Parts: sequence; C-alpha cells; structure tokens
Amino acid sequence: MLTEYARIPSQSELVATDKVGSNTASTPTTAQGLHGATTAHHLASMTSLVSTRPDEPIKPIAIPQIDNPAVVALGQKLWFDTRLSKSGGLSCNSCHNLAMGGTDNMTTSIGHKWAEGPINSPTVLNSGLAIAQFWDGRAKNLQEQAGGPIENPLEMASTHEHVVEVLNSIPAYQDEFKSAFSDYTDAITIEQVTKALASFEDTLVTPNSRFDKWLAGDDNAITEQELRGYQTFKTSGCVACHNGELLGGGSFQKFGVFEQYTTKNLAEGRFAVTGNPEDKLKFKVPTLRNIELTYPYFHDGQVNSLEEAVKIMGKIQLNKDFTDEEIADVVAFLKTLTGEQPKFQHPILPPSNPNTPKPNPFGKS
Ligand code: HEC
Ligand code: HEC
Repeated sequence: MLTEYARIPSQSELVATDKVGSNTASTPTTAQGLHGATTAHHLASMTSLVSTRPDEPIKPIAIPQIDNPAVVALGQKLWFDTRLSKSGGLSCNSCHNLAMGGTDNMTTSIGHKWAEGPINSPTVLNSGLAIAQFWDGRAKNLQEQAGGPIENPLEMASTHEHVVEVLNSIPAYQDEFKSAFSDYTDAITIEQVTKALASFEDTLVTPNSRFDKWLAGDDNAITEQELRGYQTFKTSGCVACHNGELLGGGSFQKFGVFEQYTTKNLAEGRFAVTGNPEDKLKFKVPTLRNIELTYPYFHDGQVNSLEEAVKIMGKIQLNKDFTDEEIADVVAFLKTLTGEQPKFQHPILPPSNPNTPKPNPFGKS
C-alpha cells in the first residue's frame, strides 16, 4: 500500500545532502554536521504524506525542510546542555524529554532547587506548527518562547547574561556559532542561542502516524474500531476545536463550555495575556498528536488516563455523556495519532574549562 501514497520529493532530494546531512548509505560522511554535530537527519530520509481524503478536517503532518542544518545541529546541543541552567542540572530536555513524547510525564514539572512548577509541561513535538506557544499563548513563536525557561526562577533560574558568558567561555561553541550564523561578530548572543533552539525544535515533528497513513489512502492503516472512534470524534464535535495538522494548536477555547472544570490550579488562561474577562479559562487547544505519550492530561496535569480525559471533554465541552464503548473507540482512535518520534544521535557537548562560570546547584548565591 505504501507505494500508492501520493508523494512529494523528500528532503534529501530537495536539499543538497552536504548541507542537510543524510543517513543514506550512499553519503555516509554527511550524517555528521559541522564540528561532528549531528543534524536532524532523521527527516532527510522521510517523505511527507499527502492526504487523498482532503475533505477530512485533519491533515497529515508535513515534514519541514531544513535550510540551516548547522543552526539546527547547534540547537540540538543547546537543547541538551544543562549549563544553560543556574544549577547546571536542568536542560530543556529535563522537562520536555524527547524519549518520552517531549514531556516529563509529571503533573507539573520540577524546576530549580526542586521548585514545584505551576502548570503541566506541554509537549514540544510539533509545537512549531501551533499559532502561539504556552498554554495561554503568551509567546508568539518558538524563538520568543526559548528565552523564557532559561530565566524563569521556577525553571532553569539562570540569566541570559550568564548563559552567553558560559557559552562564550568555550572556544568550540564560539567556533560553531561563528560557522552557523552569518551575523556572528565577536561573541555569541542570546538571540543566536534562542534562534538555534527554535530551529532545532522546528525539526521535532512526528510524521507518518497510522492515522496519517489512513488519510493518505491506506484503508488498512487503522482498524474498524479506530475508524469508529474517528467517526464519533467528528460527529460529536471534538473536531470543532481539535482539527488541522495538529488536531489542536489553532485557537484558544474556553475549558468548561457547558460545565466548570474543577481544579486547584490557579492558571487563568488567555486572560493573563489579554486582560479581557471573556478570555478567563481560555487555553490554547492542545495538540492531540502523540497524546498516548504525553500524559498526564490538561493544564493542571490531574488526569492520568486518556479514557477519563475523553469522558471529561465530552461532558464539559460538548454536554455529551459517552458510553464506555464510545470512549474506548475514541481512545483507540487517539492512539493512532502517535507518529514517528524524532531520532538522532545523542550530541556530545564541548567541555567547560577553568574560565567557564561554575554551576550553582544549591543556591548559595
Ligand atoms: C523545569 C521544567 C522546564 C524546563 C527546564 C523547560 N521547560 Fe519548556 N515548558 C515547561 C512548562 C511547565 C511549560 C508550560 C508553561 C506555560 O504554558 O505557562 C513549557 C512550555 C514550553 C513550550 C511551549 C509548548 C506549547 O505547546 O505551548 C516550548 C516550545 C518549550 N517549553 C521549550 C523549552 C525550551 C527550548 C527549553 C530550554 C531552553 C525549555 N522549554 C525548558 C517546562 C520546562
Ligand atoms: C470547545 C473546544 C473543544 C472541544 C469541542 C473539545 N476540546 Fe478537547 N480540549 C480543548 C481545550 C481548550 C483543552 C485544554 C484544556 C486545559 O487543560 O486547559 C482540551 C484538552 C483536551 C485533551 C487533553 C490534552 C492534553 O494534552 O492535556 C484531550 C485528550 C482532548 N481535549 C480530547 C477531546 C475530545 C476527545 C473531544 C471530543 C469529545 C474534545 N477534546 C472536544 C478544547 C476542546
């Protein structure tokens, strides 16, 4: 069936392999980017699926084209570099673990000095495709977002000055930034750091889920029960909010349309950004891609099972009491949305030296 998918040229065909990095057998040396950094070469061998069912409200995830592989490779290193945190113990990956669906699978995250986070950590997978970042959309894109956690006292508790001081003390990092950024002058800037992180995050897409294969015309990619679940998802009205490539990410919606959701969490949603009382408890509709992996659910992280989450959504968003069978069907459908997870070689970071500011894990200063 695979051969029947309509296909557009893959990345390796569109982009010169010496730039994008490729893991194909014919070009083994290009799998390594600059200075031994691996690029997001898992994308290079992938092909975007094209829907043969264009009337469906859900679209397959498209594979992004990488035009700045050196910046992506740098962003990948920074993503894993715990020296971006004050303690030297937290990296972006601590709370958005790419081995666990881009989340930490905790109710709320653990930050600096074991601080209790205020809200559930959303997945970073496919997040570049959303209209805005954060539950309340207060950052307009990934680059604007990336500066936040570094300075947030409940997260990495560092400062932008400290981060660039650390990175600039490491000659190998300076070399890499110099090669990757045409606007590099004499030192690494925080804008380059956030740009690199955002470019890496842009590659964290999860194409080729079984549901996308079904959208591309493979009738056998999902079971009868899963298809039934999809019909229920559509007919009951879930698609009004959870649609498009992400099944979400496209709008801010009230959480608790027909009934209030009971929570001790203090987040007020979009209201915190706009100050408009109508925006109270409006949150960015989360993506349902990889939802099987990104538990626990909701902004307060209080719901552990997908069955329970679907039941609550039916009740408070649509005023529907689903039967156990309908819930099982919808959950079965949701599990077809797990796509191919980003794969890459674990990056090796350039070492610190005696001039590098020391980590401060126990908050003595
Ligand atoms: C201590 C845990 C923690 C660390 C470390 C952390 N994050 Fe987050 N991240 C969160 C939480 C919690 C949120 C949700 C905050 C909110 O919406 O108010 C979030 C939100 C995000 C989002 C928005 C996703 C969406 O769907 O809206 C992105 C992107 C992101 N983080 C990237 C990063 C990057 C890049 C780093 C490293 C520089 C990082 N995070 C470090 C916990 C963390
Ligand atoms: C009116 C818009 C709307 C409708 C209709 C809707 N949802 Fe949601 N959904 C949301 C919003 C907003 C959230 C985020 C709630 C929060 O945690 O603040 C959400 C969250 C979820 C989550 C948890 C995601 C996560 O990562 O925590 C699941 C699962 C979900 N919805 C499934 C469904 C299903 C299944 C239906 C149909 C029965 C449905 N939704 C109908 C707006 C909607």
